Amino acid sequence: MFMNNLASSPAKPVKEIAISKKETEQYTSWDKFDPLEYAKRNYENMLPEDKIIIESVSKAIKEYGIKKNQFENAADVGAGPNLYPAMLLSPYVKGKIDLIEYSSSNRQYLEKVLGNNPQGEYLEHKENWIKYSKIIESMSEEDNKDSFDKTKDKIAIKAGSIYDLPQKQYSAVSSFFCTESITDKPKEFQKALESLMSSLRPGGLFVVTHMVGSEGYYAGEGTKFPAVNFSEDDLKRAYQSIDVISDFHLERAEASAGEKKAREGYHGMAVVIGHKKMEEKNKF
Ligand SMILES: C[S@@+](CC[C@H](N)C(=O)[O-])C[C@H]1O[C@@H](n2cnc3c(N)ncnc32)[C@H](O)[C@@H]1O
Repeated sequence: MFMNNLASSPAKPVKEIAISKKETEQYTSWDKFDPLEYAKRNYENMLPEDKIIIESVSKAIKEYGIKKNQFENAADVGAGPNLYPAMLLSPYVKGKIDLIEYSSSNRQYLEKVLGNNPQGEYLEHKENWIKYSKIIESMSEEDNKDSFDKTKDKIAIKAGSIYDLPQKQYSAVSSFFCTESITDKPKEFQKALESLMSSLRPGGLFVVTHMVGSEGYYAGEGTKFPAVNFSEDDLKRAYQSIDVISDFHLERAEASAGEKKAREGYHGMAVVIGHKKMEEKNKF
């Protein structure tokens, strides 16, 4: 199903184990992810692709008729140092927004930026996220003033893994550039996506973004992190194969010619928005 896929090719078991071991060894540990470098490079100035994602999500929210404070709670999974997914969902969430993150360096970044008295580079990053919040406010239909502070008050930073989420916990979930950017194995990507869906309550909303055609990436000097290199069709098939999904809409945010390339081999981003099925009663 996937291109460039070592794991799904019919390799002899012994060879496959050898390849997996080598691949694991060449990646940097998640605690060495440098959030200051990554956030500055990716989020200091809004990329056209991120603008398209924000517009698509705002449009979908309007079309679905989602109301202010409609969701009891929400989670952004694999949040990293990116605060805009939480800011996008925040007006529609009454209670807490869990930022679930595996890497301790990213959790520390979030604690510092969202803390009472950020200093130095963390203060600069906070100011940049406030700048982002103003752009989001201007693109939203909602009366959404002071969205940075309002979001900050709802956020709970949590250590956790996308592979091990609480079941049927959240009314809405987002996960930006996480499911395909934590492994180079299509099966693991599919597992992460399915686990994300299982954390949603029946009828819940999901907003998930992906890199298309990524060959991996860095976050800090000398680091190397994995990615599953898939096409848009592969991505569609991954969502279609998940039984608990009732509907989804996929929009591409193509890499703009001449713009800064977000990643090696990169063909752009995709945002997927949809719902989990309502539970069928008396199903045996
Ligand atoms: C490419 S970054 C995306 C960060 C951020 N969401 C963004 O939009 O820029 C992938 C993130 O997934 C996190 N991560 C790695 N393994 C994870 C896991 N098992 N569960 C949840 N997050 C994980 C990394 O620490 C990193 O923050």
